[in-house]
Amino acid sequence: MSDVGSISNIDDNSGEHPRSGAGSTSGPGAGLATGLRCVHCDAVSPLKDGIYVCPSCGGNHSVEYDLDAIRRAWDRAVLDGNDDRTIWRYAPLLPVTGRLEGPPVGWTPLVPAPALARTLGIRELFFKDDGRNPSASFKDRASSIALQRARETGHELVTGASTGNAASATAVLAAAVGLRTRIFVPRTAPRAKIAQLLTFGAEVLAVDGTYDQAFDLCIEASRRYGWYNRNTGFNPYTREGKKTVSFEICEQRHWIVPDLVVVPVGDGNIISGVWKGFREFERLGFIDRCPRLLAAQADESAAIVRAARGDGIIRPVSGDTVADSISVSLPRDGEAAVQAIRESGGFGITVPDDAILAAIGEVARGAGIFGEPAASAAWAGLREAVRQGLVDPAWSVVVLITGNGLKDVASAMKAVSEPRIISPDASALDALFGA
Ligand SMILES: Cc1ncc(COP(=O)(O)O)c(C=O)c1O
Ligand SMILES: [Zn+2]
Repeated sequence: MSDVGSISNIDDNSGEHPRSGAGSTSGPGAGLATGLRCVHCDAVSPLKDGIYVCPSCGGNHSVEYDLDAIRRAWDRAVLDGNDDRTIWRYAPLLPVTGRLEGPPVGWTPLVPAPALARTLGIRELFFKDDGRNPSASFKDRASSIALQRARETGHELVTGASTGNAASATAVLAAAVGLRTRIFVPRTAPRAKIAQLLTFGAEVLAVDGTYDQAFDLCIEASRRYGWYNRNTGFNPYTREGKKTVSFEICEQRHWIVPDLVVVPVGDGNIISGVWKGFREFERLGFIDRCPRLLAAQADESAAIVRAARGDGIIRPVSGDTVADSISVSLPRDGEAAVQAIRESGGFGITVPDDAILAAIGEVARGAGIFGEPAASAAWAGLREAVRQGLVDPAWSVVVLITGNGLKDVASAMKAVSEPRIISPDASALDALFGA
């Protein structure tokens, strides 16, 4: 049995110049990935630099692996013996040859929340606190893989459009390895996210428009100038980073698969990644079943939940919500997200903004975790699902907290009252607390 380090060297392109693999099926730096399969028309393309979406139909791609080769050299015992507590412990299932150095990403805590489980009347509840990643969001998982792909295909400049977190993740991790970043964000993005971008040296283009407009402008820029594009969904490798959260949940639960995983959904790339992760572990025989997925969206930003409940077709919505990270008019990974919800036997829930804001404090006080509005939407979605009788009380549930509350303090303040002002003298204390 080989260890994780040696299996990632099975790649027959390792050691070559990054660009010299062009023309092979798997392409440069692909590890044990074998190709890109279109989620819409099933066509297969090579993992080559410059191929993002399906050349035949424009659908998003899903990375495929040589699972037989992986199965021969990797199992639960190998993982158990690996003391690398980062996403790179899953190297055999990542589409790169090397790993990104820099601050450690992944292996975030799975926090038990028995008090909130009792409140909801469910058997078991955990929060996966991904706000503990280096840039304080789940997006570090995706940016790690996209940046490493950029490096292994010879790029020095990475661009991306983002509601904020994907961009911050890209800027933070790129800074650590000396890659340049040119980022498009809506100019309304929370200040903390823009501060992160600027502090970590990104060149920031604040688009006077929506996230959807920033996204299209960014793709146009990378087409014109050849910049490596990290846009969510469009870049097939972001999902590969995101799926690592499912691997971690399996390991952290000692291979007991939860019954339900609750995911806050905007573009739908996290939820499609979560599903891909569980499915890959199931196909490798590491787990014997997959969880249902609950997609939580804001009422006015619910294109994916509507499609999953209806005919499966994604139609644009206003995208209007206080939860900036899930404020999306036309989701960029909607088709794969709907597939994930349906294949898992899961469902979608929408929640109003006031429930999202209230959820921030509920998770904070109930579990000791400060989530940003989008992250808290997952908890609000679970509460609503329980209210509607969609959650079996016997279930074990994991809620993804995808971003830290300090990312968007202004929204958190909307759900609490301002502190009392007090003069700095004892008589003021007596006025308030004295007998
Ligand atoms: C904190 C947070 N939660 C949830 C999401 C939704 O992820 P996706 O757009 O892949 O559905 C995002 C995406 O920006 C995010 O930053
Ligand atoms: Zn296609």
